Amino acid sequence: MSTGFHPLTIAEVRRETADAVSIRFDVPDALKPLFTFRPGQHLTLRADLEGQDVRRNYSVCVAPQEGELRVAIKRVAGGLFSGFANEALKPGMVMEVMPPHGAFTWAFDPQAANRYVGFAGGSGITPVLSLLKSALLAEPKSRFTLLYGNRDTASIIFLEELAGLKDRFIDRLSILHFLEDEEEEVELFNGRLDRAKCAELLERVVSVADIAAFFVCGPGPMMDAVEQSLLERGVARDKVLLERFTADRPDAAQAAATAARAAEAAGAKVTLVLDGRRRSISFDPALGNILENARAAGVPAPYACKAGVCATCRGKLVSGKVEMGANYGLTAAEVEAGYILTCQSVPVGADVVVDYDA
Ligand code: FES
Repeated sequence: MSTGFHPLTIAEVRRETADAVSIRFDVPDALKPLFTFRPGQHLTLRADLEGQDVRRNYSVCVAPQEGELRVAIKRVAGGLFSGFANEALKPGMVMEVMPPHGAFTWAFDPQAANRYVGFAGGSGITPVLSLLKSALLAEPKSRFTLLYGNRDTASIIFLEELAGLKDRFIDRLSILHFLEDEEEEVELFNGRLDRAKCAELLERVVSVADIAAFFVCGPGPMMDAVEQSLLERGVARDKVLLERFTADRPDAAQAAATAARAAEAAGAKVTLVLDGRRRSISFDPALGNILENARAAGVPAPYACKAGVCATCRGKLVSGKVEMGANYGLTAAEVEAGYILTCQSVPVGADVVVDYDA
């Protein structure tokens, strides 16, 4: 992954619902290789707002086959960036954008005849839509079922596009909407995607044994309910792909444990490799983690959420040991391969080497 930001011009701002827009970027030819994305990945956008360097990750809502780069941004209550995006962004404006990254993706194969299921809640539809369209476009023999939860009809992002896709892929796409605040005739479609509803769906609607992958993105409680229900029904963990947008704040005990680990690492030598350059620093526990130490030393290590969710700060631990706090952003395979979230990691012992280019 290239770690730098690149200025991209906004080609289009499309209002999707009263509180969500999608943004299409112009990608100049010279940057096209860098901005080639896999379905379900996200971009980190950066802006200076109210005197702060604000960074947020937004998922692509298109398939690579569609030939455009577009993300969706839903306004969240009090959200500095999402409010700015929904009110102020206009075509012609230039934004700082980091190339696509993220492991919530799938290598679709034109020969495959698979079944996929997407569970989406609210703006969690964004990466799921990218995966859904990619599955249908890339694999002519595959099918996709989307289970999509929202408050009410007016808040459904991509409602029309989904209806169009359903017409286009009539034999291969099923979409079931679940609404919390509107009464449908069929009781199954009323209410939120909680544990009981998921269990019922897996009993009545989805035959889990036939599914190649489940793509899950939405509010935390919904994702937990879906994940637990799938695992309970014996679905293998590696078939359940999760994309979290937010994490709970660590509680006081966790925060104290992290601070204690950081204190033990005082003065430890940490070597950072970024854009081919090596730099060694002495770990300062007051800064909390490897990412903050890197940035304080002038190493422009990438980041967005600083909460263990987005994996923008990912680096490969090529020697030494670290302890990592929250990890919502790396897959088990990435952890196995030695990747760490530097915003959550403190060195254990000396001679830690972290490669951001790997
Ligand atoms: S900055 Fe998002 S996981 Fe570290």
